[in-house]
Amino acid sequence: MKKLIAFLALALAPLLPAQKFEGLAPTPPMGWNSWNTFQGKISETLIKEMADALVSSGMQAAGYRYLVVDDGWEAPERDSQGNLVPDPARFPSGMKALGDYLHSRGFQFGIHNCAGTKTCAGLPGGRGHEFQDARSYASWGVDFLKYDWCNHGTANSQETYNTMRDAIRAAGRPIVFSLCEWGDTKPWTWAKDTGHLWRTTGDIMDCYDCQGAYSLGWKFILESQAGLEQYAGPDHWNDPDMLEVGNPGLTLAESRAHFTLWSLLAAPLMAGNDARKMSEDTRQILTNRDVIAIDQDPLGKQGYRFMKHPGKQIWVKELAHGEWAVCFFNDGDAPVQLRIDWANLTFLKGTYRIRDIWQKKDLGSTTAGFQAPVAPHDVVLVRLSPAS
Ligand code: GLA
Repeated sequence: MKKLIAFLALALAPLLPAQKFEGLAPTPPMGWNSWNTFQGKISETLIKEMADALVSSGMQAAGYRYLVVDDGWEAPERDSQGNLVPDPARFPSGMKALGDYLHSRGFQFGIHNCAGTKTCAGLPGGRGHEFQDARSYASWGVDFLKYDWCNHGTANSQETYNTMRDAIRAAGRPIVFSLCEWGDTKPWTWAKDTGHLWRTTGDIMDCYDCQGAYSLGWKFILESQAGLEQYAGPDHWNDPDMLEVGNPGLTLAESRAHFTLWSLLAAPLMAGNDARKMSEDTRQILTNRDVIAIDQDPLGKQGYRFMKHPGKQIWVKELAHGEWAVCFFNDGDAPVQLRIDWANLTFLKGTYRIRDIWQKKDLGSTTAGFQAPVAPHDVVLVRLSPAS
């Protein structure tokens, strides 16, 4: 019977409507991913401990729902039937049991694999096994698939990712499909009907403005997002990569600014720290509901860069009900004194009440000018609400 279902799924796949599962990501997905802190050093024990820490720290209640097991969960080879198998030493209970645990703790279960022949860590990739793998994911209760782009050879990205989308569809379980092809072929121009989010750049690094061969500090990633806002919206988000908030390479100001600007970008908020050991400062950043509300605003509009002068960038995001989020970002190495004449923010219409989000203070209205010191690599974030 199983074989017959598998055969029918394969035979009928080309006849199914080519479409992703709609409506799974009306706002940018939020969660936690193992890669930024743990790379391949993961196990079911670690993932369960992280789930427990996300609950006890208040992160789950703040909206972090997807717990994503990144590269490193697989055994080095498929089984004799070609099925993916988890590493027996580190995931001895299997992926279905892990998914059950995560669901019982109120999470959605995310997993990583790769569109190429092998993952970036050299483990079995999905190429040629898409329909079989999608059935495994569905049987394990997977809710989110991050699909990488290592070892893809000469494969065409759009065709490759569409094959996996169709495989997910054929397996029948709604799964958020996260494309991780690093912006190589500008997925924002073609992936709206393929997945729910797509990476726009190479990997983020735990630093403000350093650069590796394939990875970048968050400041460089931010720079490359200007102009992509037109491509994002409910169920199809630009993904400037996971958060480094709370990781050792960032100062507190840099973590705060990174989190703020990712929210202005309507970015998926995937925490990438060790939630079991985070400082209270980090916890306060990651669970700031007013900042998260900007990211998750129901209008679903990605923010854009309104102005860029040395040391003074202004990023703005239109929110529901005529509100705006305005972020002043000091990208330089010296403190700046910000002076704002609201009339110069030409997208505003009329008078607004001003709320400083990080200071948690009301600051009067836009009838008066606005001044504030902004420390290097830090931000001031205000929310503007129509006065009447
Ligand atoms: C790529 C991705 C990362 C991570 C690693 C895992 O580099 O971009 O986010 O998934 O692979 O090997």
